[in-house]
Amino acid sequence: MAAQMPEPARSRDLEAIEADAFFFTVFEHLGYDFRHYSDASRNRRLAAFVGRHKFASISEAQGRVLRDPVLLADLLSTMTVNVTEMFRDPLVFAKIRSEILPRLATYPRIRVWIAGCATGEEAYSVAILLDEAGLLERTTIYATDIDNESLRAATSAIYPADAMVRATRNYQASGGQRPFSQWYIAKYDRCILSPDLRSRIEFFSHNLATDSAFGEFNLIMCRNVFIYFEQMLQHRVEEIFSESLAPFGNLAIGPRESLTEAGKRLFAPVDRRLGLFVKSQHGRG
Ligand SMILES: C[S@@+](CC[C@H](N)C(=O)[O-])C[C@H]1O[C@@H](n2cnc3c(N)ncnc32)[C@H](O)[C@@H]1O
Repeated sequence: MAAQMPEPARSRDLEAIEADAFFFTVFEHLGYDFRHYSDASRNRRLAAFVGRHKFASISEAQGRVLRDPVLLADLLSTMTVNVTEMFRDPLVFAKIRSEILPRLATYPRIRVWIAGCATGEEAYSVAILLDEAGLLERTTIYATDIDNESLRAATSAIYPADAMVRATRNYQASGGQRPFSQWYIAKYDRCILSPDLRSRIEFFSHNLATDSAFGEFNLIMCRNVFIYFEQMLQHRVEEIFSESLAPFGNLAIGPRESLTEAGKRLFAPVDRRLGLFVKSQHGRG
C-alpha cells in the first residue's frame, strides 16, 4: 500500500485545489475573475470568508455564493482590500504637481483614469491638485473599481472627520499651501468634500481582470492594485493601460510595486522610486 502523505500537507493541498475550483466556478458563472490573483492573500481571504459564514468547507461556500447575491457582494468586499487615504504617498503627489501638471496644462481637455479607486480618496486628491493648478474645469476624472460598496462610499464623498486630520498632514507633505479645510464641510463626526471636486469625477464599476479599455487618457493611476495580481494578470492590465494612454501619457503605480518585465517595454520611468512612468514611444501600444 502506498505511504500516506502527512496530514497537514494533504489538507493544505486539498484547500488549494478547492480554492482553485471555487474561483474557477465564480468566474464561469458570475464573471468575477480572481483566478489570477496572488494565491497567498487570495486564499487567506477566502478562508476568512468561509470561517465568518461558518461554512463547513470551501465547496459548501461555492454552492451558496452562486445562488445568493448578498453573499456574493460580501465575497467581493472580502476579496478586495480597499485601504486608502487622501494624498497617500505625498511625495508622489508632489511630483505630479511639479512635473506632470505642467505638461497636462498644455492640453485643451484633460482625461484622468484612477483604476482601483477604492473609496475615492485618490481621485479627490488628484482633483484638488488639478483645481489648485487651475485645470480642474477642463478635466474629467474617471474613477473605477470592482467593488460596488467602495464605489458607493466614493460617490457620497463623505468621510470620517478623523480621516481629514491625516489627509491634511499628507496634503501639506505633498507641498499643498492652502488651508485644507477649504475642501470640505465638517458636520458632527463626518466631513463632506466640496461639490466642485465631486462634479468632475465619474465613479463606475470596471473590472481590470475582465473588462477592456474605455477611452484615451493623459494620466492613469493604478496604485496598490498590482500587488494582488499574478504577473500574467498584471501584464494584461499593463497592456490595457498602454493602449489607453495618449502619447506622452503618464502611468502611476504604487511606490512598492514594479512593472512586469514585458511591461517595462511599454513604459519608461519618470521616477521609478515613486512608481511614475511615461508611455514608451518605442514599445507596443
Ligand atoms: C488597496 S486599494 C488601492 C486604493 C488606491 N488606489 C490607493 O492606492 O490608495 C485596491 C483596490 O483595488 C480594487 N481592485 C481589486 N481588484 C480589482 C479589479 N480586478 N478591477 C478593479 N479594481 C480592483 C479593490 O477593490 C480595491 O478597492
